[in-house]
Amino acid sequence: MNKEKPNIIVVGSSNTDLLTKVGRLPKLGETIIGKHFHIGFGGKGANQAVMAAKLKANVVMVTKLGNDIFGKETLKNYKSYNINTDFVYFCDDSSGVAPIFVDDSGNNFIVIVPGANWKLSIDEVHKAKELIIKADVLICQLEIPLETTIEALKIASLAGVTTILNPAPAMELPEEIYKYASIIAPNEVEASMLTNIDIDSVEDARKAAVALNKRGAKNVIITLGSKGVLTYSEGNFNVIPPIKVNAIDTTGAGDAFIGAFAYFYAKSKDILESTKFANIAAGLSVTKLGTQTSFPTLSEINNILIGL
Ligand code: ATP
Ligand code: RIB
Repeated sequence: MNKEKPNIIVVGSSNTDLLTKVGRLPKLGETIIGKHFHIGFGGKGANQAVMAAKLKANVVMVTKLGNDIFGKETLKNYKSYNINTDFVYFCDDSSGVAPIFVDDSGNNFIVIVPGANWKLSIDEVHKAKELIIKADVLICQLEIPLETTIEALKIASLAGVTTILNPAPAMELPEEIYKYASIIAPNEVEASMLTNIDIDSVEDARKAAVALNKRGAKNVIITLGSKGVLTYSEGNFNVIPPIKVNAIDTTGAGDAFIGAFAYFYAKSKDILESTKFANIAAGLSVTKLGTQTSFPTLSEINNILIGL
């Protein structure tokens, strides 16, 4: 296995992001004038795959698109990053879309319309089994049917493949899923929802990390937005501060984190060093508008790493 080019497989969503920049988010029932509109490729699965591919990992994407213009363009986008599309399926539903509003402080509101994503089946994941069990890392999120995600995690986990579960968007999960996650990586909202612990401080995040570990997730990483990242692994906590940046748009920061983490972890098997690397990738991604278009290159990340 060529560790310079780790093998990463993503079983997850593809969306087209319909992003509107506004001065402030509208109140209920209010009409406001937007500043700027941008269509981009998104979806948590797609974003994480593209981040890893930008770092020159070998990436396989297992996803489902609609037979429409968004689906066709999304397939082209994967190919432009040399992502393996052998398991990109099509159906008659509409492709996933995500209307997104970003305000002047870089905060966002996102509505996901899953469409074809909701049709990715267990059988379709089984067709990719050979590649799942050969991968260094499998990444899953929660924008496809839960049973499909669980099956992908189970196949990989039983074959000894490192699995990363990014439990986003926030939802309640069945207990069995935790034992299939080598690494669970929620943000604060998701960690809070899964544990019923309000997270207002790093101390709260530590409690949530312990609770997730007790459920069966071997390693826990909680991204804390502009407060950085907390890791809990083999009984040790680490808090990595954020890099200092001017935040323009945080959409997809969590995805940049996961894709970059998977790349570095596949090479190093080191949770802390991979988290430091991914924290830089995610920090750089908030300095530009958009999701995949804001993701940094390896040399941009390394330039910051060298300066630390
Ligand atoms: P999204 O759903 O928008 O993709 P998220 O909520 O999943 O993001 P966050 O926890 O907000 O993820 O952010 C992920 C990571 O991005 C943080 O842990 C940090 O490394 C980086 N990050 C986010 N906001 C900032 C910021 N303002 N400055 C520096 N780094 C940031
Ligand atoms: O994490 C950001 C992503 O969430 C966006 O690209 C949007 O498509 C939603 O899936």
